[in-house]
Amino acid sequence: MKPKVLVTRKVFPEVLERLAEHFELEVNELDRPWTADELRAHLQGKQGMYLTPTNSVDAALLDACPDLKVVANMAVGYNNIDVPACTAHGVLCTNTPGVLTESTADFGFALMLAAARRLTESERFLRSGQWANWSFDMMMGREVHATTLGVFGMGRIGQAIARRASLGFGMQVIYHNRSRLPAELEEPIKARYVGKEQLLRECDHLMVVVPYSAETHHAIGAAELALMKRTATLTNIARGGVVDDAALAEALKERRLAAAGLDVFEGEPHVHPALLELPNAVLTPHVASATVRTRRAMAGMAADNLIAGMGCGPLAGRPPSPLNPEVLATRA
Ligand code: GLV
Ligand code: GLV
Repeated sequence: MKPKVLVTRKVFPEVLERLAEHFELEVNELDRPWTADELRAHLQGKQGMYLTPTNSVDAALLDACPDLKVVANMAVGYNNIDVPACTAHGVLCTNTPGVLTESTADFGFALMLAAARRLTESERFLRSGQWANWSFDMMMGREVHATTLGVFGMGRIGQAIARRASLGFGMQVIYHNRSRLPAELEEPIKARYVGKEQLLRECDHLMVVVPYSAETHHAIGAAELALMKRTATLTNIARGGVVDDAALAEALKERRLAAAGLDVFEGEPHVHPALLELPNAVLTPHVASATVRTRRAMAGMAADNLIAGMGCGPLAGRPPSPLNPEVLATRA
C-alpha cells in the first residue's frame, strides 16, 4: 500500500504525477489555502505533507497528526514551520534552497530600481492621462549606480544581489549579518562587513534579505528607519514582520525615507492600508521567485525531498535539503 501524502495547494501537474507514482495523494483543489482546522482534518492518517508557504506547521498540529513523518516545504523560507517541534515529534522537514537564489536576486534588484526610479508611479501617471508635458523635474528619483547598497542578511540571495550591485552597477556594498562572510566570498563582490547601525546610516539603498525569526521580528522598526538617510530606499524581499510595516508607512509618508519596494508583508495577503495609499511604495504580491523555470525547480525539489524523505525513489533516506537531519539519523 502506498503511503498517504497531503498536498496543501495545487502545483504543477507533472509534479503531482511524480508524487502519485509513490504516494496515495490528496490535493487541496481549492483556490485558497485551507484554514488551520481544515488542514488538521485533511492531515489525519497522512504520513507526508507537501507544504506550500500558505500553511503552517506547529506543535499543536503535530500532536493532532501522529502519523506524520515528513513535511516538504515548497519555499526556501521556513518560518511557517516550527522545526524544533518537528524534530521533537520525529518529523523530518525540508526546504528548497539554491534553486531560487538568482531569480529572487533579480527581482529584489528590480524592486529596488523601481522604487528608486519611481517606475510604477511614472507608469500610473502616464496611464491615468496626467502626462501633459515635459518638465525638468518630472518624476526625478534617486540614483542607483555608484551609490552604496546595504545588504541586511548576507545569505545566498544577499550575496547574489551584492554581486549584481558591485559588478553590474558599480555600487559599494556594505552588509550586516549574524556572522561575517569568509574573505573568499567577500572579496569578489567587494562587500564590507559593518555593524547594523553603520549599515543603516551609510546605505543609499537597503536590501532586506534576512530570514524571519523571533530574533529578526521588526529588526527594521521606527528606531532603525530613523537612522537612514532621507534620500534612501528600502527593499524587503525577505518576509513580512522583519520590517515594521506601520513604522515604514509613517516614514514614507513623512518623506523621512524616499521610497520602498516591498514583496512581502506582515499578515499577507493583507497589506497595511497606509502602504496602499503611498505613491512612493512599490508593492508586489510575494512573487520574487516566480519565474516559470524557478517555480518548476522549487516544486521539483520539494517533491525530491518528500519522495526521498519518505524512503522512496533513488535518493531514499537522503533528501537533498533536510532542515533537521538529526531526524534522519534517528531513523537509520
Ligand atoms: C519564498 O518566499 C520562499 O521562501 O521561497
Ligand atoms: C534624456 O532622455 C537625455 O537624453 O538626457
